[in-house]
Amino acid sequence: MENITNVMEYEAIAKEKLPKMIYDYYASGAEDQWTLRENRNAYSRILFRPRILVDVSKIDTTATVLGFKISMPIMLAPTAMQKMAHPEGELATARAASAAGTIMTLSSWGTCSVEEVASTGPGVRFFQLYVLKDRNVVAQLVNMAEKAGFKAIALTVDTPRLGRREADIKNRFALPSNLTLKNFEGLDLGTVDRTNDSGLASYVADQVDRSLNWKDVKWLQTITKLPILVKGVLTAEDANLAVQVGVAGIIVSNHGARQLDYVPATITALEEVVKAAQGRVPVFMDGGVRRGTDVFKALALGASGVFIGRPYVFALAADGEVGVRKALKMLHDEFELTMALSGCRSIKEITRAHIVTPWDALRVTPRL
Ligand SMILES: Cc1cc2nc3c(=O)[nH]c(=O)nc-3n(C[C@H](O)[C@H](O)[C@H](O)COP(=O)(O)O)c2cc1C
Repeated sequence: MENITNVMEYEAIAKEKLPKMIYDYYASGAEDQWTLRENRNAYSRILFRPRILVDVSKIDTTATVLGFKISMPIMLAPTAMQKMAHPEGELATARAASAAGTIMTLSSWGTCSVEEVASTGPGVRFFQLYVLKDRNVVAQLVNMAEKAGFKAIALTVDTPRLGRREADIKNRFALPSNLTLKNFEGLDLGTVDRTNDSGLASYVADQVDRSLNWKDVKWLQTITKLPILVKGVLTAEDANLAVQVGVAGIIVSNHGARQLDYVPATITALEEVVKAAQGRVPVFMDGGVRRGTDVFKALALGASGVFIGRPYVFALAADGEVGVRKALKMLHDEFELTMALSGCRSIKEITRAHIVTPWDALRVTPRL
């Protein structure tokens, strides 16, 4: 484990350690997995235009997200059911995020509750929300997160139905019976059969509300004071609607390529959304971030920060809290080095002119 030099190396270890059903659940994308590959490949088509002879003896990687100062613009995306990866699950993730000075987003479908995560100690945390048909349950969830000191709601808007992940279908994926979706345990769920845990998990999956729409975002604003980020925006049209409805921020995401296949890589869709938002709200992104260079490219395209999913899940599976800490440190150090080698001393010095993309190739064709 000491020999690990980049976050991608955790995946092979996780694959070896985990039962096939669980590894496949974490790793897979939807259908042909074209978007899954493209989420990575698209970064390789964006190149740097580094500036030289800038005094980079001091580099400041700190960023501010919704008013919270964090050590770097790299945060943890919500990923469900982390106790399948490691017995300490979301608790280990929370401790690692806090030690790294960054933000963790807890999934609605966590195997630890908001209270348990809060009890790990101080740290800025967001709560990811799936809206269920029973709005009374949703209100209880949001209230619980607010009470536990979570600082924002990341409302997932790309999952009216679950994407078709064929490995999960083949493996008949189900939450192992010793685990449960902890956030729902203490709630008043009406008629659900609580006699066994799989009853609760399948209740929650069946209850995801397919009718979710912009009016519900308005409703959500009436039941919580927390800022709301919409997670799963990929177009300028929806970025405009999100700003109009008054969200606090936008997360450009294709759910780690687990929902609609053949949507563009998020790094490709990002700039369209940034342009539409016109600086009215911050725009974040996730999807395929595996290197400090990826983070820099996202910031150069206008992101205020990025989130990672699988890299920390695989690090958690491989080495628990230590693994997640190391994954965050490696990404931090790579990002800092990228800044130095590009001539940027702080986040605000990273500009669009520091990169060149396929869609602006004409602009910089060298005249030989
Ligand atoms: C195993 C796994 C579970 C996930 N669970 C959730 C979830 O519960 N809620 C959610 O909004 N997104 C979920 N996502 C999507 C992530 O929040 C994020 O968008 C994605 O993982 C980013 O891409 P990356 O894995 O390439 O970094 C999940 C992703 C993975 C890989």
